Amino acid sequence: MDRIPEIRQETEDYIYNVIVPKYSAFDPAHREDHALAVIDNSMDLYRKAPDGVRSGINPEILAVAAAAHDLGRIHGKKDHHINSGIIIRNDTALREWFDREQIELIAQTAEDHRASRQAEPRSIYGKIVSEADRLIDTDTVIRRTLMYGIDRYPEMSPSDQIDRALDHLYEKYGEDGYLQLWIPWSGNALQLLELRALLADREAAKAEVARIYSEITAGPDCMEGKRSGRHSCEAEIPDSGTECPPDRRIHTAASPYSNMLPDSHPEQR
Ligand SMILES: [Fe+2]
Repeated sequence: MDRIPEIRQETEDYIYNVIVPKYSAFDPAHREDHALAVIDNSMDLYRKAPDGVRSGINPEILAVAAAAHDLGRIHGKKDHHINSGIIIRNDTALREWFDREQIELIAQTAEDHRASRQAEPRSIYGKIVSEADRLIDTDTVIRRTLMYGIDRYPEMSPSDQIDRALDHLYEKYGEDGYLQLWIPWSGNALQLLELRALLADREAAKAEVARIYSEITAGPDCMEGKRSGRHSCEAEIPDSGTECPPDRRIHTAASPYSNMLPDSHPEQR
């Protein structure tokens, strides 16, 4: 399959057959679809880069870095970017295609991707993967924040889940939020404005978070979770909603890594 025409077939095979499947063990917001999305977004940013920038980028380094950026989550969320760097440097298979300097670039890209890290990524690869990792579609951002909370803090009441998600949204995406954007030609800047317009009215933002929470927890997977005591679907929120579409169902079965997400902040850091 020729999914990334700019790179060698064997590297592409390694990305899709070896690296991406490792994400199947991570928390619901960071499964294989997350790795695939970051690869696609990174390559899209590469293709749309101004000529002078694109000519300085090795697409193979970028594709592998995008694929491997979250591998450190195998050891939990805390310091996952550092652990991704260690995993990449120890991956002997990469030495077949990349020299030591290139592997170092891939590892540094993973180390630099974390949104809560305020320092500017050291290379264009770090900037692209960081940007590709944080699609700021309002609905997706709210949904992922809630899913993380439901997975990480199943004991929380619905209203606490909503408040926790709301606090995170302001902390990260608010006017003084810690999120920084690095790639001027990405669509994130415009989407951030849209999200901030919603956050400008706290009541409206809360209602939207509650609506999406209701949608997530109204699906059959929620009933599954309810039976297993994972969380309550009887939200004390308006608009209990109907069954959520299949692609929006959360996985309530306990992830083997659910207890390995040690800090109090929601997922996308
Ligand atoms: Fe990521």
